[in-house]
Amino acid sequence: MNDIRAIAFDLYGTLCDVHSVADTCEGFYPGRGREISLLWRQKQLEYTWLRSLMGQYTSFENATEDSLVYTAHHLGLALDNDRRAELCEAYFRLRAFPEVPAALHALNDLGLPLAIVSNGSGRSIEAVVRHAGIHDPFAHLISVEVAQVFKPDPRVYELGERALAVPRPSILFVSSNAWDVTGAGHYGFSTCWVKRGAGTFEELGQRPGLVVQGLDQLVSALK
Ligand code: LAC
Repeated sequence: MNDIRAIAFDLYGTLCDVHSVADTCEGFYPGRGREISLLWRQKQLEYTWLRSLMGQYTSFENATEDSLVYTAHHLGLALDNDRRAELCEAYFRLRAFPEVPAALHALNDLGLPLAIVSNGSGRSIEAVVRHAGIHDPFAHLISVEVAQVFKPDPRVYELGERALAVPRPSILFVSSNAWDVTGAGHYGFSTCWVKRGAGTFEELGQRPGLVVQGLDQLVSALK
């Protein structure tokens, strides 16, 4: 990795574990927590992509709620208003992956400005990073709200470039979501794929510049 002068991170699934919500799902639907969480996340992403294609932006919180309702219908689960609210609230209380807090501080020590560029609303990003205890290392928390379209639309990556004010190839975009790494690569950022567990990279015309298992390995690669 040459001439990296700033880092932009994806939030959901990269810094914080979206499947933290499985515990709350499990409490309401014993034995189904993981299954619900997996389908919910997949539908949440699909709804962001579909809404971008349709030109029908809605907030990430709304997409999260709509995809939960779909998931409940699809799996034949009862979902009253209280459960629905409590499950959506769980999306504000995601845990950071264990290596993340120390790694972010180590990257700060290297003198690299850090940003988050996320599909979340400004309110969601702020709530999630504060709850996870990872707010301080970031110079910028950037939400798609300003662009009214979701990643991987190039207008979102442009928000990161403008905030960090560094040429595209000198910004390292870090995500565990292979489709997001792909979008960032097409935009012109340098890229790092955080391969958390077994994953298969997308066949969409890009390869990640760097592949790591966790952010601790990213720190080592940049030192
Ligand atoms: C985000 C989702 C896409 O944080 O992971 O933008």
